[in-house]
Amino acid sequence: MIKKIENLLKSAGIEEASAEAKLIITSVSNQSIEEIVLNKNIKNEEKILDAVNKRIKTGKPIQQILGFGYFMNSKYKVNENVLIPRDETELLVLEGYNLVKSLKNKINILEIGTGSGCISIELAKKLSDKDIEILSVDISSPAIQTALENADNQGVIRKVIFRKSDIYSKIRPIEKFDLIISNPPYIPINQKKTLQKEVLFEPESALFTNDDEGLEYYKKIISDARKFLKPSGYVAFEVGHGQSKKVKNVFEADNFKNIKITQDLAGIERVISAQI
Ligand SMILES: C[S@@+](CC[C@H](N)C(=O)[O-])C[C@H]1O[C@@H](n2cnc3c(N)ncnc32)[C@H](O)[C@@H]1O
Repeated sequence: MIKKIENLLKSAGIEEASAEAKLIITSVSNQSIEEIVLNKNIKNEEKILDAVNKRIKTGKPIQQILGFGYFMNSKYKVNENVLIPRDETELLVLEGYNLVKSLKNKINILEIGTGSGCISIELAKKLSDKDIEILSVDISSPAIQTALENADNQGVIRKVIFRKSDIYSKIRPIEKFDLIISNPPYIPINQKKTLQKEVLFEPESALFTNDDEGLEYYKKIISDARKFLKPSGYVAFEVGHGQSKKVKNVFEADNFKNIKITQDLAGIERVISAQI
């Protein structure tokens, strides 16, 4: 059955056929691969084939069909209003955590661009033994609604405040943060045609920028960051392939110091952080 589904997905041109086959089977049957192999039996076979057919017919990302995806081993509700959490974003969570974990006083974090809530929620979980408050803002009300449900499911609803805001528009001047963290939209709109078909099922407002280099949000966030950072506060971003040096230049032009770039497992520069 596992091989059969993998082959069906493969012949439909789906790149990650093996991983998707396992995700569909284990989540719809509610069994681990080990259980299935041991018992030689799969539950909910019809529902599994139904999900596979939908995946092939619609071309929608499998997480949107199942209604959830995984991030840092936790299950996140996803839908057409939020970006599907990506594995590489884990690196940004770890960087954010490392930047603030040793602070002695109350830790305040601002996330810009909540989406499913995965960054704020994982930070809240990793910093659960600290006195922290995370303010997580997004321009999209349905995204915030989804993030709220995820925060509730994961028991961090008291640690994260969600707010609708166009970047800093609804942040009050008295609100100050140790860390501003963001995985903003960073794909130039002129690259839309080059993207995988699946990506186009995700919200445009989560993906695209209006400039040619994908730097629009980095520039906007950096240029006003000082107004909202505590003394010695940090900014940390996920960046797109090939954008790290350009974002570094933006930080440098604004006199940020201690600029650090981190590579992902594939050697791609994925995360950049800096201090005022
Ligand atoms: C790349 S997604 C990141 C989602 C999530 N943080 C993650 O890493 O999976 C970018 C998010 O920024 C939000 N966004 C776009 N423009 C915004 C703006 N002007 N102000 C606040 N959030 C915005 C989008 O709605 C989207 O949820």
